Amino acid sequence: MTTENNSNPQQIRFAYWVPNVSGGLVVSNIEQRTDWGIDYNRRLAQAAEKSGFDYALSQIRFTAGYGAENQHESVSFSHAILAATEKLKVIAAILPGPWKPALAAKQLATIDQLTHGRIAVNIVSGWFRGEFDAIGEEWPEHDERYVRSEEFIRSLKGIWTQDNFSFDGKYYQFKDYTLKPKPLQQPHPEIFQGGSSRAARDMASRVSDWYFTNGNTVEGIKAQIDDIRAKAQSNDHQVKIGVNAFIIARDSEEEAQAVLQEIIDKANPEAVNAFGDATREAGAASPEGEGNWAKSTFEDLVQYNDGFKTNLIGTPQQVAERIVALKDVGVDLVLAGFLHFIEEVEYFGEKVLPLVRELEARKKVQLEEAV
Ligand SMILES: Cc1cc2nc3c(=O)[nH]c(=O)nc-3n(C[C@H](O)[C@H](O)[C@H](O)COP(=O)(O)O)c2cc1C
Repeated sequence: MTTENNSNPQQIRFAYWVPNVSGGLVVSNIEQRTDWGIDYNRRLAQAAEKSGFDYALSQIRFTAGYGAENQHESVSFSHAILAATEKLKVIAAILPGPWKPALAAKQLATIDQLTHGRIAVNIVSGWFRGEFDAIGEEWPEHDERYVRSEEFIRSLKGIWTQDNFSFDGKYYQFKDYTLKPKPLQQPHPEIFQGGSSRAARDMASRVSDWYFTNGNTVEGIKAQIDDIRAKAQSNDHQVKIGVNAFIIARDSEEEAQAVLQEIIDKANPEAVNAFGDATREAGAASPEGEGNWAKSTFEDLVQYNDGFKTNLIGTPQQVAERIVALKDVGVDLVLAGFLHFIEEVEYFGEKVLPLVRELEARKKVQLEEAV
């Protein structure tokens, strides 16, 4: 079994954020018809796979300010979603520190076996110091967290692909270790990572299968992609790119803009500012100061991964055209958040996705004719 989904690799892919954390995807008192419980999430996952989504990304938090008061654990929650679906791949988030690679590799290999090869993993390096302090975990400085994450990823790959695996890192050591059974997916379950900083990009250009970044303008995303892909090429490594976007697709542009305005007008200022303070330990703390949230305004932070910046806000036609523009600069996947998840995932599948596929097909013909 390969790690690719069955979908056409020439088509841009879609993932959605699993709302396994309470409070929805925006830090606002606007009504959000979204629930963090398992019943809602099972129905959402089934609707998403029917609507053309390839992946779901669950979140890991041990504590959180900004209104995300309850948080289900990511690996176990991912498994429950996989058990309720047939095609969807679920990406479980894991934090080096609380997790050790031996445990993660074994846990995920078993889930891969149980779900016929549908688990993937997002290695998150940590941005919230308060969380690490609260659970008694060491808090290495920004770039050092990526040294640890890279060793974590190298360990996962080694354990999943080799017998008698040995590794002598700063953080992790293995001696002649053989995991059995290995995961079903070959060569191994897909490994995602998040971040925008220099250290995050460099790690992606060496070891990750996928690089996830916060929302951004097309130009901002292009600059990151060009940078990562040039480095990856010199490392003889291939990395795919996923971009976060908070999608507000409505029948008219006015309606979509009005929803955005209402989200911002009803933002919870204490929670957004507390979140803004916490993020200063992330991107802004990296030596080059280019990481996630380093340049985010109050309005950007209302969607906690800068999802408004990607501007997938408008009519189905506008949203579809902007998605294809992202694809044109090298984006492989859009990671989507929504206000009312189930309803909007279905609307997206009915109204937006067919337009994206139509635009992609038209472009393909144009390219073929030009050759
Ligand atoms: C799409 C995406 C998903 C993420 N999911 C999580 C998560 O579930 N838990 C978490 O603690 N951090 C998560 N992160 C945070 C990153 O792993 C990273 O720590 C953060 O973006 C800081 O990156 P930077 O300072 O290197 O730019 C996510 C980031 C992105 C872009």
